[in-house]
Amino acid sequence: MRDAAPQTIYLSDYTPYPWTVESVELHFALDPHATRVRSTIRFAPNPVYVEDPDAPPSTMFLHGENLKLISAQINGDPVRAEVTSEGLTTDVPEGAFTWEAEVEIDPAGNTALEGLYMSNGMYCTQCEAEGFRKITYYPDRPDVMSVFTVTIEGPHPVLLSNGNPLIASKHSAKWYDPWPKPAYLFALVAGDLVAHSDRFTTRSGRVVDLNLYVREGDEGKCAFGMQALKDSMKWDEDVYGREYDLELFNIVAVDDFNMGAMENKGLNIFNSSAVLASQATSTDSNFERIEAIIAHEYFHNWTGNRITCRDWFQLCLKEGLTVFRDSQFTADMRGEAVKRISDVIDLRARQFPEDQGPLAHPVRPESFQEINNFYTATIYEKGAEVIRMLKTLVGDQAYSDAVTLYFDRHDGDAATIEDWLKVFEDTTGRDLTQFKRWYSQAGTPRLKVEEDWAEGALTLTFTQSLAATSATPAPQPQVIPLAVGLIGPDGAEVAETRVLEMTETSQSFKFDGLSERPVASILRGFSAPVVLEQPLTDAQRAHLLAHDTDPFNRWEAGETMARNTLLAMILEGTRPDPAYLRGLHAVVTDGTLDPAFRAMILSLPRPSDLATALHDAGHVPEPDIIHAALETLRDAIARELCDVLPELYEDNLVTEPYAPDAIQSGKRALANSALSLLSRSDDGKLAREQYDAADNMTQQLAALACLIRAGRGEAAIKAFEEQWKNDRLVMDKWFGLQVNEADPEDAHEVAANLTKHPDFNWKNPNRFRAVFSSLAMHHAGFHHASGAGYKLLADWLIKLDPVNPQTTARMCSAFQTWKRYDRSRQELMRAQVDRILATPDLSRDTTEMLTRISNG
Ligand code: TRP
Ligand code: ZN
Repeated sequence: MRDAAPQTIYLSDYTPYPWTVESVELHFALDPHATRVRSTIRFAPNPVYVEDPDAPPSTMFLHGENLKLISAQINGDPVRAEVTSEGLTTDVPEGAFTWEAEVEIDPAGNTALEGLYMSNGMYCTQCEAEGFRKITYYPDRPDVMSVFTVTIEGPHPVLLSNGNPLIASKHSAKWYDPWPKPAYLFALVAGDLVAHSDRFTTRSGRVVDLNLYVREGDEGKCAFGMQALKDSMKWDEDVYGREYDLELFNIVAVDDFNMGAMENKGLNIFNSSAVLASQATSTDSNFERIEAIIAHEYFHNWTGNRITCRDWFQLCLKEGLTVFRDSQFTADMRGEAVKRISDVIDLRARQFPEDQGPLAHPVRPESFQEINNFYTATIYEKGAEVIRMLKTLVGDQAYSDAVTLYFDRHDGDAATIEDWLKVFEDTTGRDLTQFKRWYSQAGTPRLKVEEDWAEGALTLTFTQSLAATSATPAPQPQVIPLAVGLIGPDGAEVAETRVLEMTETSQSFKFDGLSERPVASILRGFSAPVVLEQPLTDAQRAHLLAHDTDPFNRWEAGETMARNTLLAMILEGTRPDPAYLRGLHAVVTDGTLDPAFRAMILSLPRPSDLATALHDAGHVPEPDIIHAALETLRDAIARELCDVLPELYEDNLVTEPYAPDAIQSGKRALANSALSLLSRSDDGKLAREQYDAADNMTQQLAALACLIRAGRGEAAIKAFEEQWKNDRLVMDKWFGLQVNEADPEDAHEVAANLTKHPDFNWKNPNRFRAVFSSLAMHHAGFHHASGAGYKLLADWLIKLDPVNPQTTARMCSAFQTWKRYDRSRQELMRAQVDRILATPDLSRDTTEMLTRISNG
C-alpha cells in the first residue's frame, strides 16, 4: 500500500502527550509468521498537558503499523477503535485507565528490519526511531516514558529484553526494566546464541554482569569488544562521573541490521560488523571502529537513555553529544592528533557535501517527513563539532561543571537543546543566543583571512560568510572559536595557541611585539567546522608542514599543499610541486614523528574532495581528470621517496605478536602506505610476499588491494574467496575491495558482475552496501561518462526500496552532488533520480530523499 500523502512534521507544532504511561506490560508468544503480542498499559492524565484542563480529550490516538488487531479493551471493556495505516483512535474515559490489546505480527516477513524481525533464525528488534509501532499499539514518541515488564515465550535457549531478569524457565523469560524509557529503547532478542561473559565492578562497588551474545562459531571474535566495553565503562566513570545502573549489560550481534548499533537500555543490539573482531578477520581500522561504536552505544546510557530527547527534532541532543564523547574516548585510548585528523577527514568527506548541497539541514532541523532520513552526518558529526566548539569557548572546567549540572538537572527527562544550552548559561553566565545559530542555521560557513604586517604587529582580519539556502534564507554571523598560534621564521613557535572569539561578520585581531614576521597557524585542531581560505604562499605552507607545533595544522599544511598541486595539475597541466614533494620527504623520514601521523601525511585528498574544491573555485570537476592527476601525483611521490621506501617498509613491519593497538596499527598503516607506493613499480612482487606471509587481515587486505591495483590480483582474489567463503564479514570486504580498487573504466561492470555471485545476498544491508556504497564512493567509476554507474545503482535502489526503504533512502545520497558536474552527467543523474521517483509505491523514505535532491 502506498503511504498516505507525505506529511511534513514541524518542531513548532510540538505539544505534550495528554497522558502519561505509568506502566507497560508486554507478553510475546513468538512465532515466525504469527507472533502474538499482548499489552497492558496503564494511562493517567498528564499534568503538564495544558491544552484545556477542564475538558480533557475524550479520544486517544495510538501509533500502530502493519499490526493485526485481535482484541482491545479499556478497563476490561471491549473498545471500538477506528484503525488506519498509521494507528488507532478510540474513545477513552476520564482519569486513569488500563488499555489491554492483543495484536499479531509477522517477524519473518519483516525485511525492512524495523520493529520485530528475524535474522538467521533469531528474533530481534530495532525500534529507533519509530519501530515500536510495528510491534504493538502505543504512543510511540520519545517524551512518553514508562517502566516495562516483558514476558517472552519461545522455544529458544536465549530470551532477552531490557533491564534485569525476573524469572527464567525453559521456554519463557520475564524481564523488568526499572528505568522509565521511551519505546524506541525497547528491545527483545530470542535465539540460539552463545554468550561471552565477563564482569565489571563499578566505582561504588556494584558488580555488573556483562554478556556478548553471538551465533555459535563467533565465540572467538568477542574478546576485543568485551574489553572495549569495560574500557568504556571505566572511562565514563573517570571522565564524566557516570556509573552504570543495572545488574546486567547485554550486547547482541546481528547480521541483518540497517545501521551500526543501537543503545537499547541494558540490551544493545549491534550490527555484527560493529562488534565481532579477530586478528585474522578484522583490519586495524575495524578494531578502532568497533571500539568507538561500543563506547558510543555504552555512553548513550546516560546521554540518550537516562536523559532522552523530547522529540526527534532534538536528535543531536543525544547523538552529537554521544559522538563527541566517543571521540574523546578514542582520543584518550589512541592519541588525540591522529583521531582529530581522521575525524576531520570524515567530516569533510561526508558532512560538508551534505551541508553544501540539496540535503543541507540545521543540526536541529525544524521539519521532516521521515525521521529515518535525519540520522545524518550533520546531526551526528556536525552535532559533535558544535559541542566541541562550546567546550573550547567555555573551557574544560566550565564544560565539566555544565555537563554535571545537565545530568543532575535533567536525569529522567526528555530534554531539548534549550535545556542543554541553559546549563551552560547557568554555569558560565554567558549568553548563548548567538551560539545557538550553530543549531539553527544550515550550511558550512566560509572564513576568509587577510594579513597585515607592520611595525612588529601582525593583524589578522577574518570575514565569515554563509550562503543563503532554502533551509537558511537569511544567514546571520555565528560565533567562531579561532585557535591561533604563530610560528617564527626559524621554525620556533612565537605565540602559543590562543582562542580568539569571532562574533561579527568581519573582525580583526592584532598580535604585537613580534621581531620578525611569523606564519599564522589558524584554526588549530580544526577549532570550528568551517571552510578556511588563508592565502599563504607555498613557502609559508611548507614552513608549517615542517614546523607547526599543532599536529592537526601540520597535517593540514601538507593536505593543502597536496590539494593545491593537484588543482594546478588539473587546471593548468603543471607538474607536481617539487616543494611539496620535498616537504613530504622530510616529514615521512622524520623518525621522531608517530608512524600513524606520517601515514596520514602520505594519504592524498580524496577525489571527491578535489571535486568539491574545483566546484568551489568555479570549475566543473572532471572525474577522469581528477583520477589521472591523483595517479600522476602518486607516481611522483613514489619516485621522490624511492630511496627511503624500502626502509620505511621494513622498519615498520611489526615483529611482536599482533595487537590492534594504536602503536602497532600506526606502524602497519605506514608500512602499507610504503607498500602501496612500492607496488606501483614492482609488478606486485612485494605485495605478493606480504599477502602470503600475512597473519592478520590488515596486511592481507592491504596486500590484496596492491595486487589488484597492479593488475595482478586475479589469483589472490580467488584464493581469498576460497579461504574466507564461510565468513560473512570477511566476504563483505571481498565484495567491497574489488569495487574500490577497480579501474574507473570497469568499476560499474565489476559491481554488476558481483551482483551475480551466489553469495550476493542483496537483502542483507552489509552485503548490499559492500558493493553499492563502494561503487558510489568510487568517484571516477560511479561518474563514468556513459552513466552506467548511475543506472546500475538506480536499478538496485528500485529493487531494494520495497524490501528495505531505510537503507535505500540512505544510499540515495550518492546523487546529492549532481549539480556540480557537467551538463551531460547532470542529465544522466537526474534521469535516474526521476526514474526512481516514478516507481509505483516508492517508500516515503526514498521519496523524501530524492525529492529534496532533485529540487535542491
Ligand atoms: N541510535 C543509534 C546510534 O546512534 C542509531 C541507530 C541504530 C538507528 N539503528 C537505527 C537510527 C535505526 C535509525 C534507525 O547509535
Ligand atoms: Zn548514537
